[in-house]
Amino acid sequence: MNPIAYKRCVSRVLANPVLLSGVRLGKRVKLFQAMQYLKHPCDINTLASELHLKEPYLKELIHSYVSSEVMTLTPDKKIIVPDWTIFKEAFLDPELTYLRPFEKVAPILEKCFEENGPAGYTHDEAPYVLDYVRTLRQNYNIPLAMELSQLISVHADSYTDILDVGCGTGDLTIPLASTLGSSSVYGCDISVKAITAANMASYKVDNVSFGIEDIHNLPKSWGGKYNVILMFDVLHDLQYPEKAMKQLLNVLKKDGILIIVDPKVSSDPRKNIGNIQAAQALTLSTWWCVPSSSCDHGSGNGVGWGWENKEVFLRNMGLNVRSRVCLIKSDYNYAYVCRRK
Ligand SMILES: C[S@@+](CC[C@H](N)C(=O)[O-])C[C@H]1O[C@@H](n2cnc3c(N)ncnc32)[C@H](O)[C@@H]1O
Repeated sequence: MNPIAYKRCVSRVLANPVLLSGVRLGKRVKLFQAMQYLKHPCDINTLASELHLKEPYLKELIHSYVSSEVMTLTPDKKIIVPDWTIFKEAFLDPELTYLRPFEKVAPILEKCFEENGPAGYTHDEAPYVLDYVRTLRQNYNIPLAMELSQLISVHADSYTDILDVGCGTGDLTIPLASTLGSSSVYGCDISVKAITAANMASYKVDNVSFGIEDIHNLPKSWGGKYNVILMFDVLHDLQYPEKAMKQLLNVLKKDGILIIVDPKVSSDPRKNIGNIQAAQALTLSTWWCVPSSSCDHGSGNGVGWGWENKEVFLRNMGLNVRSRVCLIKSDYNYAYVCRRK
């Protein structure tokens, strides 16, 4: 990449506080120092072992740099910084700080990066990143809920009982229930803090209720109960997606539908190059989705798992993807409407 084009990429990152927090994280875990020391194009596994860092964490962070083009991926999947002079001038400023809500979670995340550090953290242990993400989405919750309700009315034979798994603070569950007044909507999440907030926010809506549940272990009494199950921005956060999906299929009625919404980031890092939305999603994933999915030594999938791998996963779980759409004309997510094969 020529220096002018590279400067343009660097400026885009400097103007984006999420991406900039990702760069600061790379500095904190000594990634750039190691790359300069190793000099030649480096592979991610070698960097992880040299630095005694966990590979899934480092990979997600580096793939965010590749998407924003501050780093380049060689055809044999090694990484280089195109111009160290420009890079250092922009990013190695000691004054560079984390985005304010990220400051609180940075010491925990930096520990999680370490080979022998904690596996990850839950929303209750470190709610700051998800709280920030909620502020980014707050103006879109009602349009998203309207479109979800349309998908439900078009694809579901019946929608008397709807389950929103991993509902968080109910930001979508509550407007969805308001739109589908004749349905009974239940939101569940493993986070006590999120469910407490959801209960408080929903007092005016009669057909919605919330409870604390782990997707990997849903109540036996729910067998075949739900016509519609929604899983919004959760699949890639899960420790054991296969176990979770078996549980969901167990509580879904035979002719029910499953709506899974997940970020539209490619499984192939090369296909995300120049995609700032993907870069941002991968950075946020380093702060939240990788730690969440790594808890209890789980999958560590995060957003970088990618939509192609997720489609294979859904098919392997015995699901038929009936429809795949981008909600609210945004390129950020794919919404999959699935039925049993
Ligand atoms: C990115 S948030 C999405 C929240 C909500 N669906 C939304 O879009 O507003 C992911 C949620 O998944 C929840 N989660 C992660 N692992 C879970 C598990 N094993 N069981 C239930 N919920 C889980 C987290 O607590 C978090 O609230």
